[in-house]
Amino acid sequence: MRIDILTLFPEMFTGVLGCSILKRAIDKSYLEVYTHDIRAYTTDKHHRADDYPFGGGAGMVMMIEPIARCIEHLQSERTYDAIYLMAPDGKQFDQHKANEMSMLNNIMILCGHYKGVDERVRELYITEDLSIGDYVLSGGELAAMVITDSLARIIPGVIGDGTSALSDSFQDDLLSAPVYTRPADFRGHRVPDVLLSGNDKLIAEWTMNQQLQRTQERRPDLLEK
Ligand code: ADE
Repeated sequence: MRIDILTLFPEMFTGVLGCSILKRAIDKSYLEVYTHDIRAYTTDKHHRADDYPFGGGAGMVMMIEPIARCIEHLQSERTYDAIYLMAPDGKQFDQHKANEMSMLNNIMILCGHYKGVDERVRELYITEDLSIGDYVLSGGELAAMVITDSLARIIPGVIGDGTSALSDSFQDDLLSAPVYTRPADFRGHRVPDVLLSGNDKLIAEWTMNQQLQRTQERRPDLLEK
């Protein structure tokens, strides 16, 4: 899978792409991620990528021209399955969306900023707007990182243990069961006996019960699905 991220702040991505599972996915060529500085596609000497909103109002609006040039430059090199805009008024991103997106080959992610992007960008280029939650970030960069990370971990082979991404919370609309490791007894706080029993059937039953109980307590809305 290839992800091209269009941003005003490409430097924000270096830490995230250079660590942990994302770094491994990229190093092992399961995933290619490229950031593109929208400002590099401006034509004026001040490299302006935003301007005042027509009709007035507070805040700046990202201009269509540099974004269009960047998108069209990338489209001239390969075909894209989808172009996503990160925006707080987008469709809520969730695990189902992550699974669906992970099947695509080439995608672009446009990081919105300031008051937003010129509406014609959405009309002409964007396949879908995505939000990562009901709160407003300073820009779409953090949202693009969240989505990139969630896609990387479900690409087959990226996570060492082939089943581990599938047992993540939300994969079956249930939260994960609690997990424990050594020591079996920490100051009198013991790991549940069943996990030490070696009985796979009992462990599977316990795990499913814990998943249901946690989901009921913390996210009953998931059970209603
Ligand atoms: N940009 C600003 N806030 C955002 C959010 N919650 N999700 C996606 N992009 C955003």
